[in-house]
Amino acid sequence: MILSRQESTWEVRAPAKLNLCLDVLRRREDGYHEVETLMVPLKLHDTITVISEPPADGGLGPIQLRVISPQTGSVCWSSVPLGHKNLVYRAVDALRQAAGIGHGARIQLIKRIPAESGLGGGSSDAAAALVAANAAWNLHWNRTRLEPIALSIGSDVPFFLDGGAAVCRGRGERVARVHHATPLHVVVVRPPAGLSTLDVFQSFDSKADHFRDPSTISSDPATRSRRITDAVSALIAGKLSDLGQLLFNRLEYPARNLTDWIDRLAYAFGKYVDVAGHAMTGSGTAYFGICRNARHAHRTAAILQGHRMGWICTSQAVSWIT
Ligand code: C5P
Repeated sequence: MILSRQESTWEVRAPAKLNLCLDVLRRREDGYHEVETLMVPLKLHDTITVISEPPADGGLGPIQLRVISPQTGSVCWSSVPLGHKNLVYRAVDALRQAAGIGHGARIQLIKRIPAESGLGGGSSDAAAALVAANAAWNLHWNRTRLEPIALSIGSDVPFFLDGGAAVCRGRGERVARVHHATPLHVVVVRPPAGLSTLDVFQSFDSKADHFRDPSTISSDPATRSRRITDAVSALIAGKLSDLGQLLFNRLEYPARNLTDWIDRLAYAFGKYVDVAGHAMTGSGTAYFGICRNARHAHRTAAILQGHRMGWICTSQAVSWIT
């Protein structure tokens, strides 16, 4: 993550992510699902700033969180949880407890990534807050030490602790980095309705017929895993049309049971624009298409804009964040 400092203010960029491939293997005893997923971080990002506050007299210093919109200065996404329900608050509080310190923090979150979209905004914000608070409180903890705290906040948080694309396994916390230099341009649409990750996984469990989903290529986990390996190779080689054909997301079908927006977006991407491939990201509802270059991405976004599908942005995968 990009960490910078201006006097006592520490700032970190919290990127969004896309799941280019997402396989769900099985439900585990602990209720979580075993996944295998190829994720790339995007230039689209939130910005977190943290200022350390001294411990209060005989107690903990306050943790204050302000979530603001870059345009209006007020909160932009009504579904962004505030105060102690926000993952940022919980991450910083968990770090403080683990470190046994009494400091507080004044945190500002500039929110550009839509919530309930599968773009990982909440998880990325939490990872960024951990990195910023680690610096603001002079803890100097390394990644290995921060990782259990990150995982206690959410399955995707460890992915965001450092930069770059990765294949993630387990709950999502076993992160194997993928180094690529491919300029991957995308268009992302977040429809007016969002979905909660919990609801989508529950819908996945309640349906025995996932394999009727046309986007699910095989009922054989080994075949799907090979597809992810092929997608990694295509990404590294910069073969965008191959990569586009290899996208898949096994949460797409359960998400379609919860909202008709996924069908509408799949239809629009198939009918109105000529992208290399398109799929839902994470547990939805955001949907993306892979474009040939930046100009193609802008043209694609302009066409989709005319169909009033919700919030639309063009972005680029960042190959490595330092
Ligand atoms: O880990 P996180 O809090 O982001 O997950 C939200 C919910 O999504 C979990 O409570 C769980 O029900 C579901 N989930 C899952 N398997 C995963 C990740 C998330 O079942 N690998």
